[in-house]
Amino acid sequence: MALMKTSQDQSEKTVSSTFLWPVFDERDVQAVTEVARSGAWGNPDCSGLVEKFEKEFAEYCGSRFAVTCANGSVSLRLALMASGVRPGDEVIVPPYTFIATASVVIECNCVPVFVDIHPDTYNLDPGKIEEAITPKTRAIIPVHFAGLACEMDAIMEIAAKHNLTVIEDAAHAHGGTYRGKMLGTIGHAGSFSFQSSKNLNAGEGGIVVTDDEQIYDRINSLRNVGRVKGGMWYEHHYLGCNYRITQFQAALLSSQLKRLEEQTIIRDKNGRYLTELLRDVKGLTPLWRSAEATRHTYHLYMFRYDKAHFNGMSKRDFVAQLSAEGVPSSAGYPYPLYKQAVFQEKNFMCYAIPEDVDYTKVYCAVAEHACAEEAVWILQHAMLGTLQDMEDFARAIRKIQNEARSVA
Ligand SMILES: Cc1ncc(COP(=O)(O)O)c(C=O)c1O
Repeated sequence: MALMKTSQDQSEKTVSSTFLWPVFDERDVQAVTEVARSGAWGNPDCSGLVEKFEKEFAEYCGSRFAVTCANGSVSLRLALMASGVRPGDEVIVPPYTFIATASVVIECNCVPVFVDIHPDTYNLDPGKIEEAITPKTRAIIPVHFAGLACEMDAIMEIAAKHNLTVIEDAAHAHGGTYRGKMLGTIGHAGSFSFQSSKNLNAGEGGIVVTDDEQIYDRINSLRNVGRVKGGMWYEHHYLGCNYRITQFQAALLSSQLKRLEEQTIIRDKNGRYLTELLRDVKGLTPLWRSAEATRHTYHLYMFRYDKAHFNGMSKRDFVAQLSAEGVPSSAGYPYPLYKQAVFQEKNFMCYAIPEDVDYTKVYCAVAEHACAEEAVWILQHAMLGTLQDMEDFARAIRKIQNEARSVA
């Protein structure tokens, strides 16, 4: 038996289901068709279906305000800008996340300071935040990675003590909760992405939720070329840009939002079940979920892989086999963010980052190990399957392990 399977081995697949994403039907098609027929495709004054969706999303999250924009990178950047950071300020970010969490900090002329993740959750480790705080620190961007809530009580306590702004990166976390409160609504602002792979998707798009009227007003202006309420069309107060979404996106988002709650409940239930099923698989540890992480969105179902229990098979070979068995999966990020050329070589283009910042000296041991050896992702659309599918995933994993051991 070959250790490396390929997708040609389809006939032997353990999982027979096909997992489709996005999920849509005639109602979504109708919503977009109506916009097409109306001829009102754009969103010049941020009203109409865009405003309607913003109200719906704010209500869903239980926040006072919501403001849409081009994508989840722009929403994060505008939230940080609107929080009042100044050039040279430091912003604490995790190294195990998508590039945008850190690159938006550079785009605000601020300095991302990487603080390691916790080995049990892969979220920002609150125990390591305070040692990274300097007189220049202004904000923290915790990422609810995979849809698992960060330890927000600890993070908010540190932020209050040091007078820091907290912008939650909730790009993976639509509908997730911490102590029953929606993720994105615990810090000063929360940012979500509607990019194609996300649990709420319109192809592209982003949104910020906040209870802070000043942050809301600023983002509202920044995403619309610095215009202000009651101002003239050619009157610009802030250095914004055109980051508006279209009426098509808003129509689709309103329609898709109707499914979000039900889909989130299914993923959460499947995630808990899969964790039960994997409990006795040696060398495979699902990420730890505290009692406070009341609802996980399972944008990714993540576990820690230990090759010692798989006859030394590398993580990447394991994931290739898992995919060949029909489990939509990924080995995730190849290395922590600070290892990306943009940080190592400081290819920051025109952004004014202080000379003494040097990312070649950064080393976050937990994130390094997660990327190289441990972290395995099962993708969110697979988590929308049935309980039987979860049993099939567990069976596929056991099969790979048994076959690997039999080669020894
Ligand atoms: C954690 C995280 N933050 C921010 C973003 C940026 O979102 P977008 O792709 O909509 O710009 C992503 C996208 O994958 C993400 O995973």
